[in-house]
Amino acid sequence: MIIGVPKELKPQENRVALTPAGADALIRAGHRVLLETNAGYESGFDDKSYMEQGVEIKEDPADVWKEADMILKVKAPLKSEYAYFKEGLVIFTYFHLANEPELTKALMDSKAIAIAYETVELPNRSLPLLTPMSEVGGRMAVQQGAIYLDKIHGGKGKLMDGVPGVPPAHVVIVGAGVVGTAALRRAVGLGARVTVLDINIDRLTYLNEVFLGKIETLYSNNYNLAQIVKTADLLIGAVLIPGSKTPKLITEDMVKEMEPGSVIVDVAIDQGGCVATIDKPTTHENPTFVKHGVIHYAVGNIPGAVPQTSTLALTNVTLPYALKLANLGWKRALQEDSALKKGANVVQGKITYPAVSKAFNLDYTNIDSLL
Ligand SMILES: NC(=O)c1ccc[n+]([C@@H]2O[C@H](COP(=O)([O-])OP(=O)(O)OC[C@H]3O[C@@H](n4cnc5c(N)ncnc54)[C@H](O)[C@@H]3O)[C@@H](O)[C@H]2O)c1
Repeated sequence: MIIGVPKELKPQENRVALTPAGADALIRAGHRVLLETNAGYESGFDDKSYMEQGVEIKEDPADVWKEADMILKVKAPLKSEYAYFKEGLVIFTYFHLANEPELTKALMDSKAIAIAYETVELPNRSLPLLTPMSEVGGRMAVQQGAIYLDKIHGGKGKLMDGVPGVPPAHVVIVGAGVVGTAALRRAVGLGARVTVLDINIDRLTYLNEVFLGKIETLYSNNYNLAQIVKTADLLIGAVLIPGSKTPKLITEDMVKEMEPGSVIVDVAIDQGGCVATIDKPTTHENPTFVKHGVIHYAVGNIPGAVPQTSTLALTNVTLPYALKLANLGWKRALQEDSALKKGANVVQGKITYPAVSKAFNLDYTNIDSLL
């Protein structure tokens, strides 16, 4: 199989979908790998380090897309890439289609095979290709939030852990999954007061036991959110309903009640976000805006800021699936791997992921009928 790796186009997206080690594994398995020049540069891998493994470097991204049987990417293709879609092309990347009507249509029209990292799901319902980026996103949410709480960055001017005789900042985390837990670990580590909310009582029980006395847990409902959000110096949105658009749990009225100079980091923005005052993602170039006196940070590709860590963390988990797709072909790979099968979102013009068909009110086709 010919595997193509284009350079990411999203502003300041510095990750790459394949490392030289991954390329080596694919080439050893008998495949050809084409890489757009400098695709790995910002992640710490120059073209030479790929060429040493036998990768062919292409100047023009069109050559990568045209020759490839499978494209490995990090972020969803941008509009300028839709023209490269073709029948039978496997595209393995983050798609987050429930929030992307135009991309969904372009994939359907092209009859390509879109397998989404974020919906690959193990039998225990965990999402193995989302986990490492959520680990990064949660840690970064607190790191960025602490920066914007500084007066010199527009915030209210509060130190995360306070000092003796002065209380710490209050970090409120909505969603206690991978992002929420990574965020709370860092916030606790920095000495903040931390409250975490979720609807999953088992999860809150677990965190309560592990962080006994160091965090407060609260059941997530509209009433409790309204009470707690107004006390937050830093509010972190970390909710996920797999494959679906995130509900806007934090209403505009709740944001209005927050103190001026408070900070919201909505990590869940890549699925639509859980904060009503944010309608679209921001970028690393322009990460924040102020509304009702509150700083809003809603970067859709937070891990892109730390590409050397993120690329390794991502490719550690995507490579085994990429190898399977390359070695077996997409049909057999999906037949043999139930987790990968859940990744099928749009296949040969049909929507094969229930939440995506529901988001756009389009017909759903069971992937089994296409294998
Ligand atoms: N912006 C970025 O760069 C970036 C990076 C990593 C992850 N993410 C996104 O962050 C989000 C969270 O990811 P995750 O890996 O932590 O997911 P997860 O599934 O591990 O956790 C989500 C949590 O949300 C909880 N939840 C659902 N409904 C809720 C409600 N009404 N109130 C409170 N909690 C509720 C779930 O019970 C679960 O514990 C996802 O949308 C993911 O795509 C974004």
